[in-house]
Amino acid sequence: MNPILRVENVSVRFGGLQALGDVSFAVANNEILGVVGPNGAGKSTLFGVICGDVHPDAGSTLLAGKSITGKSSDEIARSGLVRTFQTPRPFTTMTFLENVTLAALTKTNDVAIARERARLVLDQVGLSDCCDRPSSGASTGQRKRLDIARALGTEPSVLLLDEPLGGVDPGSIADMLALLKRIRDRGVTLVVIEHNLEALTGIADRLIAMTLGKKIADGAPKDVMSDDRLVRAYLGDDDAAA
Ligand SMILES: Nc1ncnc2c1ncn2[C@@H]1O[C@H](COP(=O)(O)OP(=O)(O)OP(=O)(O)O)[C@@H](O)[C@H]1O
Ligand SMILES: [Mg+2]
Repeated sequence: MNPILRVENVSVRFGGLQALGDVSFAVANNEILGVVGPNGAGKSTLFGVICGDVHPDAGSTLLAGKSITGKSSDEIARSGLVRTFQTPRPFTTMTFLENVTLAALTKTNDVAIARERARLVLDQVGLSDCCDRPSSGASTGQRKRLDIARALGTEPSVLLLDEPLGGVDPGSIADMLALLKRIRDRGVTLVVIEHNLEALTGIADRLIAMTLGKKIADGAPKDVMSDDRLVRAYLGDDDAAA
């Protein structure tokens, strides 16, 4: 494996709660890695640690072989790694184009270049018709796409997506999956948290499974999905036995 991202022995406590306990994994360059596990498993906290929003109590994170542990999210974004949020947070007083232009300004000081980049990525995510609309009027699906466009505006090499299908209407899921594949085909490495396991296994090269802050499985999607520990984590021991 040629890892672009490494997470090594990361632990996070929130007061008395161990949100992450000694989590390690690597992500290969240009891979789509899926992250699965029940509510509260620590998936979003893991993204927080990688992108610099949450400071780990132990462990380290490396991007292209260089430590990013303890750096700010702005610094990490400039190094080429960004995340989207489970609940997207666009600047609602701005238009779609202004939101993405602002993100693109992390890589250039030239507003005209940033605006051009923003138009390009809004087109890539299928929102070119929305450029001049206020983002306050965006539907859930549009907000998810806008959030991805804002991330792409920073020209990332690694993109962390937190539940990109959450709240997306069933008729638009295939389009969203096709978008994620196109982003990967342009050379971006993707790490995708998703509760829609069927959709995720359709695009992921590999899965890691988590429960109660621990990584419990790591491998080919079909192997992880049939792993007893994941089935028990989702269903509970009694139901899994049944
Ligand atoms: N800032 C915080 N302060 C205190 N506890 C937190 C904080 N963030 C998360 N937690 C707790 O840490 C645990 C892991 O939360 P996290 O959001 O990472 O789970 P998740 O796997 O993303 O769940 P979901 O699938 O519901 O999004 C949960 O018990 C959550 O309540
Ligand atoms: Mg989460």
